[in-house]
Amino acid sequence: MCGIVGYTGPKKANDIIINGLKTLEYRGYDSAGIAFVKDNKINVYREVGRIAALEKMIENVEAAQLGIGHTRWATHGKPSPENAHPHTSMNRMITLVHNGVIENYLEIKEDLSSKGYTFQGQTDTEVIANYLEDDYKKTKDMKQSIMNMMKTMHGAYALGILCSDDKDTLYCVKNKTPMLAGVGEGFNMIGSDAMAMINETNTFIEIKDLEFLIVSRDEIQIYNQDGDRIERKPFTSNINALDINLGTYDHYMMKEIDEQPAVIRTLINEYVREDDINIDPKLIKELQEADRLYIIASGTSMHAGYVGKYLFEELVKKPVEVHLGSEFGYHLPLISKKPLFIFITQSGETADSRVALKLVNEKGYKSLTITNVEGSTLSREATYTLLLKAGPEIAVASTKAYVAQVTLLAILANYLGGNNIDMNLELSRVAHAIEDIISRKDQIKDIVHHKIAYSRNAFYIGRNLDYFVALEAALKLKEISYIQTEGFASGELKHGTIALIEDRTPVIALISQEQVALNTRSAIQEVLARSANATIISMEKVSNKDDDFIISDTYPLFSPLALVVVSQLIAYYAALEIGNDIDKPRNLAKSVTVE
Ligand code: G6P
Repeated sequence: MCGIVGYTGPKKANDIIINGLKTLEYRGYDSAGIAFVKDNKINVYREVGRIAALEKMIENVEAAQLGIGHTRWATHGKPSPENAHPHTSMNRMITLVHNGVIENYLEIKEDLSSKGYTFQGQTDTEVIANYLEDDYKKTKDMKQSIMNMMKTMHGAYALGILCSDDKDTLYCVKNKTPMLAGVGEGFNMIGSDAMAMINETNTFIEIKDLEFLIVSRDEIQIYNQDGDRIERKPFTSNINALDINLGTYDHYMMKEIDEQPAVIRTLINEYVREDDINIDPKLIKELQEADRLYIIASGTSMHAGYVGKYLFEELVKKPVEVHLGSEFGYHLPLISKKPLFIFITQSGETADSRVALKLVNEKGYKSLTITNVEGSTLSREATYTLLLKAGPEIAVASTKAYVAQVTLLAILANYLGGNNIDMNLELSRVAHAIEDIISRKDQIKDIVHHKIAYSRNAFYIGRNLDYFVALEAALKLKEISYIQTEGFASGELKHGTIALIEDRTPVIALISQEQVALNTRSAIQEVLARSANATIISMEKVSNKDDDFIISDTYPLFSPLALVVVSQLIAYYAALEIGNDIDKPRNLAKSVTVE
């Protein structure tokens, strides 16, 4: 988590860094800071809150040509100006921004304290700054001190560093945390992702783990931790700067909800062929030969994984297990003879999933990463990658990435299962059903107003595939409305949790699967008998005319793609009515690069 931008060049670094940080707010937004080199001095500005607060703070600061900025998601120490980055070493020689966690910072801090170093806040980052200062006093060589630091510090770090002795240079170090270099004519940049730099350049250089950079206006030098120079060719990104504009929308989340039919059509064009599939035949062979698939993911991506499991088991008749990245990395389940590991991750950076992938790699197993971010860490480290092609997803609450994940899993499962479903036709029907839901947004807004917003807690219930959608629907409502919501298998509610149903507790039932529709309707009767406030969302084929919201029929196995959109809109309108920050909900970050 946390986002970093650095710039050196002829333009006003102040604006370039602030604009870059705004695109990185999805990585954390509890405090922010910036450091500029101006008139041979390094000036640091830090503010609690959003980038807009920092922008206001520095509005009258003179233009600088070199600087680093940071947006924070607190790991060590609460959000405060002292804990915000950049951090400066005791004698102000080193100023740096950090994304990641240093595992052994306490012992290094103790050592530095015994040498007389004092610390302003509680962060591990301040320890890196003071370590570098202490070492640099001896070496008088930043390159050597960075190498020493890399050997001493254990953990994850992406760093942007300024040294008061060298006011034309930006240093950058990367290990296990994303960082990219941006290449320009007469300027250069560093950033946590390409979006942070895309307004200035679309040419980038990849930085690998345990590498560091010495960046000036005219040159980017790459070194490994032993100090050997590395040559690496830049690449051109196909991200479009327009993709990250809000346009006429009030929130990215609504923009991204509306983009979902187009995302499905893009995936049809990309991967579906009449009697074939446009996917590396080697990967298809691995999937065919695997005796069991292990899906590993977190959050929304894990919920897409559950739907994927159902699709693979129904269409391919292949067993699939779904595991949480944070659990899998520390307790391996029993592994079959010929497994294939599938990592689903919107960002491609989630540390919990990465720990699991490292373990899979150590054991020599093959893996596939399904991600929206080309060149992301989990993509680079897996044997194969499939891209979601959903365009940048900026709202913290994931919408179009989930729909893209389920769509791609459906395309794969159908092909491996004998290509019996006309995917072009059926996925287009889904896209139409979503368009129809989107055209009736006001109806959903009304339901939310009368039945859901302002409740203390809520339940989504469903059975079978609808249960997996209920899990995602509940997460979405929790994430942005802060209403405590549980997704429940409707048959399980009566085994304990029904005790929580009180007068007017919202229970939202999802009904799209014919074989269990009546069972879920019975569960609704049970909660109604206890005065719950029930909302029924059903698919036409299994609907009753009094249901609250009816979606058009789709191929039954693909109904999650449409049902989930109703739940996204419910969450959106609940958060809107309550007055929450929809795109940046409290305590969350979009890309969680710490375990
Ligand atoms: C964070 C986000 C969630 C997301 C999860 C997994 O917790 O707030 O919305 O589902 O990470 O992210 P990934 O990028 O791996 O899909």
